[in-house]
Amino acid sequence: MDHFLYRDGVLHAEDVPVADIAAAVGTPFYVYSTATLLRHFTLFDDALNGMDHLVCYAMKAASNQAILKTLAQAGAGMDVVSVGEYARARAAGVPGDKIVFSGVGKTADEIRMALTGGIRQFNVESEPEMEVLNRVAGEVGAVAPITIRVNPDVDAKTHAKIATGKSENKFGIPIARAREVYAMAGAMENLDVIGIDVHIGSQLTELAPFELAYAKVAELTVQLREDGHNIRRLDLGGGLGIPYARSNEAPPLPTDYGALIKRTVGHLGCEIEIEPGRLISGNAGIMVSEVIYVKSGEGRDFLILDGAMNDLIRPAMYEAYHDIVPIIEPAPGAEQAPYDIVGPVCESGDTFAKQRMMPRLNAGDLVAFRSAGAYGAVMSSEYNTRPLIPEVLVNGDQYAVIRARPTFDEMINRDTIPGWL
Ligand code: LLP
Repeated sequence: MDHFLYRDGVLHAEDVPVADIAAAVGTPFYVYSTATLLRHFTLFDDALNGMDHLVCYAMKAASNQAILKTLAQAGAGMDVVSVGEYARARAAGVPGDKIVFSGVGKTADEIRMALTGGIRQFNVESEPEMEVLNRVAGEVGAVAPITIRVNPDVDAKTHAKIATGKSENKFGIPIARAREVYAMAGAMENLDVIGIDVHIGSQLTELAPFELAYAKVAELTVQLREDGHNIRRLDLGGGLGIPYARSNEAPPLPTDYGALIKRTVGHLGCEIEIEPGRLISGNAGIMVSEVIYVKSGEGRDFLILDGAMNDLIRPAMYEAYHDIVPIIEPAPGAEQAPYDIVGPVCESGDTFAKQRMMPRLNAGDLVAFRSAGAYGAVMSSEYNTRPLIPEVLVNGDQYAVIRARPTFDEMINRDTIPGWL
């Protein structure tokens, strides 16, 4: 459920008509709903009630500092995958002891900055990383708290580009080798082995793969304790999917996911961390765009929008589906027509939807891409020298621009011309 609803025939973001924001900031833009962000965070937090836990928002999904601050003030920790994200989380006021550092390629410099700045734990993904972490921790006189990410070889049944828990993926160490690798870690003097980490993929629409993976983690916890490790924290990753097509999708709810966690690992007495990204911010954001032209092609009509693949790359990259709705609510039974919905970028891949049934639209009409709050703005680029589009945050009847559209001068002046030119 989100807070982007039609009221009096026009789409609102909470209590603000979306068209008012469009008039003030220009299109295209992203707009997020505070109430939806908080609602989704609270769903996870409540689902783990009764267990010692921390919900660490996977900030790669949407990392504007206003979003981070909103969630941090509600008690969220953060899952970061680069020192840039670490710095951003800290700038948004998140304390180091609520930040976990994930990712397969942490550099020595990144590790040093996180260790000296304060960190809850590193989720280590390989033996070479473990060695670098041990060395850097020694250099700065720290003991690094770690979990090791295990790869449980479970099929997450999601898009191949966002599955991470199969043995062919680059993530984690094979669970079959875990005891050996934990023994190595246990022998390193600057590491404190505190737990186990697992993350099997993103946009999971079934609970069964989580159940399989977490059961393996539970078994491993017992084995590692037998081996003498003080396993006291389990980071169970993110990945719970969201409905992209409102009409016919109903992925599992955080409450069911929470019950699954209690069922599979609840008896172990470990502190639980989860790292949801998409389910917190996905349906909390929309992208608003204007129809520039309606073009009649051979056998098909194109809606050419001012938003493009550089602003929202998910359809081009993952064949992802997003509901696209007009800002003005169509009258019940209004005539619909199939459109190819495209952006202005010079690639055929700049196609958001093919033969999508839409009410008849005209140049100047506004449309909203639903469920664009996760992996939308963060994956955008300036391809075709198109400015990164603004981000807006709504809270009740107020809204604020939380990232302004850069001017062309700002974009162009970032280039520097060598002396020989
Ligand atoms: N933890 C780790 C270690 C991750 O790699 C990810 C996502 C998450 C947590 C959060 O997963 P979520 O709850 O958001 O599913 N750009 C793609 C999604 C990439 C996900 C990468 N890792 C998309 O637009 O669908």
